[in-house]
Amino acid sequence: MTPLTQSPKDPEFVQNPYPFYEAARANGPFFHWTDYGMPCTGNATAVNAIFRDRRFGREAPPENAFAIAPHTAAFYAVEAHSMLELEPPRHTRLRSLVLRAFTTRRIAALGPEIAALTHQLIDAFPSGGFDLLPHFATKIPVIIIARLLGVPEAMAPDLLRWSNAMVGMYLAGRARDAEDRATAATEAFTTFLRAYIDARRARPADDLITHLIAAEAEGERLTTDELISTCILLLNAGHEATVHTIGNGVKTLLETATPHAALAPDAVEQTVEEILRFDPALHMFTRWAYEDVTVMGHTFHRGDRVALLLAAANRDPANWPDPARFDPTRPIKPHASFGAGLHFCVGAPLARLELQVAVPILFQRLPGLHLTETPQYADVYHFHGLNCLMVAR
Ligand code: HEM
Repeated sequence: MTPLTQSPKDPEFVQNPYPFYEAARANGPFFHWTDYGMPCTGNATAVNAIFRDRRFGREAPPENAFAIAPHTAAFYAVEAHSMLELEPPRHTRLRSLVLRAFTTRRIAALGPEIAALTHQLIDAFPSGGFDLLPHFATKIPVIIIARLLGVPEAMAPDLLRWSNAMVGMYLAGRARDAEDRATAATEAFTTFLRAYIDARRARPADDLITHLIAAEAEGERLTTDELISTCILLLNAGHEATVHTIGNGVKTLLETATPHAALAPDAVEQTVEEILRFDPALHMFTRWAYEDVTVMGHTFHRGDRVALLLAAANRDPANWPDPARFDPTRPIKPHASFGAGLHFCVGAPLARLELQVAVPILFQRLPGLHLTETPQYADVYHFHGLNCLMVAR
């Protein structure tokens, strides 16, 4: 396996990781990314196979579990009950309870609400040039997920603060102060939710928290700690990636001068899938091998880790003709941006709906929308989102 060195904090890489992915993929299905010390793949077939192979999973085998530093205990106590960090049977139980409350009907019914919110936000845009991220891309997902869970919208700034601090735990080369911020945020988030869940127990409402509590009452119980972890996961996962998918997507549409017809009702689904494929907000997820297993010629042993490069898989020329071209007329087929297999994104239907509703309204209302500065990506690998998106109408 070819060793390759590439700092995930290198400014050129942060702005454009795709040339590295291309070079890496040219070495065969796997390469050894020395900065992460593990095999990686940006090969679409390998990424898809590993996502779907039950001999790999997110939870570390017991003998590989790392010691948790006391100052991060609160953060990992929440992760210990998060479906995203678990494998069956606990994963199955948590996910099925969430899916029971998070129904397709409930999500689809949010369409008019997303449209109304989008109009309200556009009405409030400043008159001159402005940053589309805080005025638009951030607001839609955070307000919608807060409403869906039944958390007051006034909490949105706290949710954003806590979530941003917690995300610090996943960044390359995190430092002690980032760990302290993440732990403090987790403690504040947990304290808020514990009180909030108690209040909902006393006064049920038609919201996801109440439905999750009800699912708890139907025999297959969610403990309070599981409820807290699930709410934190939904609130955090429910906006972080969507914010940046909206940002990256609007940037791409403007940079490529994509005709507005691509956002017409009969075209928008394809355009949104191309936005998701072309420049996704999450680039890397890892898996542990639970037994000896050979994938495309490479043998993994129990306890080995492998990194799956979603954004690279989405540009694998074996799957996508002319992959570096943004082509909203591309026929829809599965990309890797929401993962695959057991942990496939629970929020994919909601994220897709938010994009399909909000982005067309933005361009209808502001047909002259244009960039006023070259957008810059933030130094937050494995996330891939903009620092700001300066535009004018
Ligand atoms: C464009 C936006 C989004 C992207 C790109 C995205 C991406 C992903 C990916 C790649 C995974 C799988 C991770 C893995 O297999 O290791 C995942 C899982 C998950 N996502 Fe999303 N997501 C988005 C939006 C959302 C939203 C809106 C929600 C919630 C409302 C959400 C909730 C979740 C949850 C709960 C999981 C864990 C599922 C499990 O472990 O079974 N996501 N997401």
